[in-house]
Formats: sequence, C-alpha cells, structure tokens
Amino acid sequence: MAEDRSERVSWSEKRETRSPPSTFDRDTTRTGVDPRERFDREWPDCWADAAALLEWTEPYDELLDDDDAPFYRWFVGGRLNAAENCIDRHLEAGRKTQVALRWEGKRDEQRTYTYHDLHREVTAVAAGLRELGVEENDVVTLYLPTLPELPITMLACARIGALHNVVFAGFAPDALLERMSGTDSSALVTCDGAFRDGVAIDQKRKADAAMAELESTIPTIVVDRLGPANETQLGPDQYAYDELVDRFDGADVPPVPRNATDPLFHIHTSGTTGEPQRMTHATGGYLAGTAWTSRTVFDLSPGDTYWCTADLGWVTGHSYVVYGPLARGATVVLAEGSLRYPDRHRPWEIIERNGVEVFYTTPGVIRTFMKWGESFPAAHDRSSLRLLGTVGEPIGPDTWEWYYTHVGDERCPIVDTWWQTETGAVMLSTLPGVDEMKPGAVGPPLPGIDARVVDEDGRELPPGEPGYLTITKPWPSMLSPLESDRYWVLAEYWQQFSDRRADTWRYFTGDRAVVDEDGYVTIIGRADDVVTVGNRRLGTAELEAAITAVDGVTEAAAVAGSTGGDTDLYVFATIEQDRTDRDGLRGAITDAIVSRIGRFAEPAAVVFTPELPETHSGKTMYRVLETIVDDERLEDSEPLRNPEIVGELESLWTTE
Ligand code: WTA
Repeated sequence: MAEDRSERVSWSEKRETRSPPSTFDRDTTRTGVDPRERFDREWPDCWADAAALLEWTEPYDELLDDDDAPFYRWFVGGRLNAAENCIDRHLEAGRKTQVALRWEGKRDEQRTYTYHDLHREVTAVAAGLRELGVEENDVVTLYLPTLPELPITMLACARIGALHNVVFAGFAPDALLERMSGTDSSALVTCDGAFRDGVAIDQKRKADAAMAELESTIPTIVVDRLGPANETQLGPDQYAYDELVDRFDGADVPPVPRNATDPLFHIHTSGTTGEPQRMTHATGGYLAGTAWTSRTVFDLSPGDTYWCTADLGWVTGHSYVVYGPLARGATVVLAEGSLRYPDRHRPWEIIERNGVEVFYTTPGVIRTFMKWGESFPAAHDRSSLRLLGTVGEPIGPDTWEWYYTHVGDERCPIVDTWWQTETGAVMLSTLPGVDEMKPGAVGPPLPGIDARVVDEDGRELPPGEPGYLTITKPWPSMLSPLESDRYWVLAEYWQQFSDRRADTWRYFTGDRAVVDEDGYVTIIGRADDVVTVGNRRLGTAELEAAITAVDGVTEAAAVAGSTGGDTDLYVFATIEQDRTDRDGLRGAITDAIVSRIGRFAEPAAVVFTPELPETHSGKTMYRVLETIVDDERLEDSEPLRNPEIVGELESLWTTE
C-alpha cells in the first residue's frame, strides 16, 4: 500500500472541538467515574457489565478464554437465548403492551407490534420453521426487504437456535445464490415482491431463479407484500407466510438455550479479496456487545423510541435495528422504501409521527438532506429528538455541522460511530453528553477497546501519522468464525507481533486512520479493495468480474465517489482496440452489474480509458481514481507505474 503524502496534510488538519450540549441530560453513562479509566483498570472483567445487561439461562464460568488466541471465546459456559433476551424478558418486566416495532410502509401504511404481538408472531414462525424441518444449528436464508416479517423471522430463527443468513433484497439471483451456497441453508424466506414508486417489482422471481440453480431442494416461505391485487403462484415446497402464522398461532415454542459461544447468525461482507465472505457472530458476546453499546452509545433505555435507517441486509440493521435496541426494550421504528418517496418530507414526518428520540443514519443520507435543504426538517416538529448518530463512512465537518444545527437544533449530541461487520458493535465513538465532539473525527475508542494506528510492521504511530487502524485486545462482539473459516479469517485479519512483554495479536480493520493528541481517531478510508456505495460494502473484485465478463471489456476498476452529495459507483474500463460502440458497451456494463449484483449498484458513470493507473506491482491504484471522481487535485502520483495516465484520466473524466 503506497503512502500518500497529500493525505497527511489534509487529515492531520486541526479539528474544532465542540462541547456536548448541556441540555442532554438522560445520559446513562455518567457515573462519576471515568468509564475508560475504569475499563482499562478492570479489563477484561469490565465486560461483565455488558453481560449483566442480558438474561442468562446459565451463568458463564469464564469471562474470556484466550487459550486459542486470536480465536477468543467470551462468556464460556454461559447459556442464553437471543430471542428470549429481545422479547420474552420484556413481557415479564411489564412491557407487554409497549410498542416493540413500528413499521412505516411505503404506501403510507403503519403497522404496530407490541412486545406481546412480537412474541406471538415470532413463536408462530418458529413453530412453522420447525414444521418445515429446520432444526437447531441449521441455517435459514432470509431474502426480504424492510418488512416486519424480516426481524420477526430473524428472531424466530434465534428462538429455535437456527442461524439466519440475511441477504440484502436488492441483490440479483447470482449474488443470492453465491451467498446461499456455502451456508448449506435448510430454508429460504422471501416475499412476492415490493413496490417501487408505486410499481410492483418481483422479488420471488429473483428468489426462484436462484433456487433453480441450488443443488438441493429446500422449502421456501413467501411473505405477501403486494396484497390480493397481485396473486403469486406458490410452487411445490413453497409456503405462504400468513398461512403458517395462522396455523401455528398460539403455539408454545420455548426458547432454546444456546451456549454463549454458539453461532447466532451468518452475514456476508466483502474483505480484501473482494469476494463475499461469510462472517459469523457468537450468541453471548455479540448480544452483550450490541446491548452494551445500545445503552452506552445510543443511550437506549426501555421505552425509548429509536429509528435507524439502515437496511436489515447489512450489519447495522442486525446490530442496531434488531438485537441491540430490542435487547434494551426500546421501541424500534422501521421504514420501508426510499426516504424521498412520496416526497422529501417523509423522514421528518416519520420522526414527528413517532416521536423519535434517537436517530441513526449515514453521512450519505445527511448529504442528501442537505441537498434538499433545511426547509424540510424545519417544517416538522423534531423536539422529540435528543441524540443523533452516524455510521458507514467519514462525515465531513460541514455535513456534521448541518446535521447538528438543522436536525438536532444544537441540542442533540452526535455520535459518529466507527465499526464493521466483523466487530459486531460500535468500537470508536464519543460518549454522548460526556465527551467533547470533534466534527470529522469519529472519536476515541469506547471504554475497554484498545485501538491503535500502526505501520506495516505493527509499530504504533505517533499522533498525526496516518497508518492502519488495528484493535489489539479482544472485545465481546468480535467475529467468531466457524472452524471451517478460521484459516482465511486468520490470514485476512490477524497478525501477531512480539513486543517487549509478550506476543500481541492485532486485528487489522482494513481502514487507514490517524489519531490526534487527544486520542481522537480520524478515518481516512479503506486500505483494501472494498467500495462503499450508499453505505453498502461491495468487493471491487465482485463488481469487476461482472464488468469484465462483458464482451469487449479488458480491464475494469470500480470506485465510489460523492460528486453530487450521494455516494455513487463509478466504473473505469479499458476495452479492446477495435471496439467503437462505446454507448453499447456502456449499456452492457450497466446491465451486467444490475443483473449480477443488483440495481442498487448501478454505476453513475462508465469512463473508458486507455489504461488504469497502476502501482509498480500492477495493482490498480483505486485512490487515484477516487481522487479523480471526487474532483480533488492530485498532489502525488509518484508511486504509479504509469503516471502519465492521470492527466489523461482527468480530461476523460471532465469530458465523458
Ligand atoms: C467504514 C458498517 C468512517 C469503514 C457498520 C469500515 C466508517 C467499514 C465509519 C465497515 C465511520 C464505518 N467513519 N468510516 N463512522 N463506520 N466505516 O462492515 O471503512 O458494512 O471498515 O459495517 O465502513 O463497513 P461494514
């Protein structure tokens, strides 16, 4: 990875400091003791605090087992059930009639589930899954858009000790198939379709196409989203969700106690190879980590109303729509569809109508709000808001200020939360109402998290020096690979270094970062071949394989850029010399991405170039392309093998 000297200047820029607003007074972390100091002093026993937020069927007898480092095991000997923690115990605590889930449909529909309703439907689905042959430790693939049936089915799996494998509903059949094979799924849950701008779009057809390619036959449960106007034919081994729920309504399915170290779910993400990778999280540590951060970072207590705009197909939806907030007994708002449909008032209406107190979204969404203008939030009552969050990519100081002023009325702290699919829960963030905020920097590591910026050799770098963000000590919600995934997980993420006292394992996050004198971390970006489009993490290899499969295309590079506010995908491609039908090729590239990956990944532009910028070892220099897309001036292209291509690319970029 080549050093880019220009970033050192811009990223070590002095950041302004903002004091937390004094009006934020429902802080649950203020104990009079500095939590970071206490967690340092008491590490790892401090993490008993997180475990104490859960209900255990069987208490653990060993907090942290590090015998097999870096495959650490948390809360060993403990037994618990995640669905019981997210539902049943709230019933016993008198929250039966409290709203657990409030769904805001695209067509102005609202559906409300109390904790009692949630319990009833989750139990019925759990019974239905069992009837279809799903057993403990089996995997169920869920291929659903933002419908209440998605969290319900996730929790139904958890109830019977089956693992869910949620695949983003926007993925094309090939991508679904790729994410299903390798998990050996025992069942699929999907829906008939979805509405996009009023038009019914097929979801089941995509699912059927993937199933036709699957080697074994497995049952499919189909949720009815389109209603009676759009009848769907069910084939053999296909079951209507509603019929299953009716049939098993009132069934008694006691939650299956799981070992804390047993897997709770799989989720696919992109790593340095760019291929989709199967990630696994363990029941006890993951739930403890998400519950603890939901309390400490998002300040969620039972009854608080919370809205996170993330899709459940990604880890944010798992940790901070389903498991964390429900383990805390919060009221979770779930919004289907685009925030701009039917109009730009929708997000603010959702906040106003539901009295949302804590709002969590991405810098991309905030930039879109900025583009629309402050008159939209200003037209709505936002007095219920008391805390704002952001995740997924660096938030620039201007975007931060806009969010703080026009959404939070300078009353609400902002938590800029850094974490990953692999970390399971937030790792770096300010503590709301306690820590000073520095727009542009995510903040210091959370209590108990040992994050360091290091060089290639694992040596810690001083403040101001950009390097690799690593995590040195294990943490409860850390990735917990299956036996069969250990080899690549080790190769991809962990490195061992000898320091003066002992051998230290460092977890490499794949991000570049810089730390300041106060220990605040600024994220520079990915160091590997991963692009983030609309907060969705995709491997460049997966995208580029789709592009180079187009006849006539020789090489391709896909990068994310944010020219007009939204983060979009841009494709740079080289083509065979005798090809002149550029528009045809452009269309074919777009079609290939849409059909192999999904419509959400449709590129904003396809630029044909005689060469891609390369390092001396022949690796595509994504950073050079990103800089061109972001319209920044390139200050240092020295490490390139073919520096002359930069000028050419810049002029192509402005003309194409
Ligand atoms: C990036 C999403 C800057 C980062 C939760 C990380 C961020 C990747 C932030 C993980 C943030 C996440 N500031 N960058 N606050 N949060 N990232 O696995 O590059 O989909 O490695 O998890 O998103 O993406 P993932």
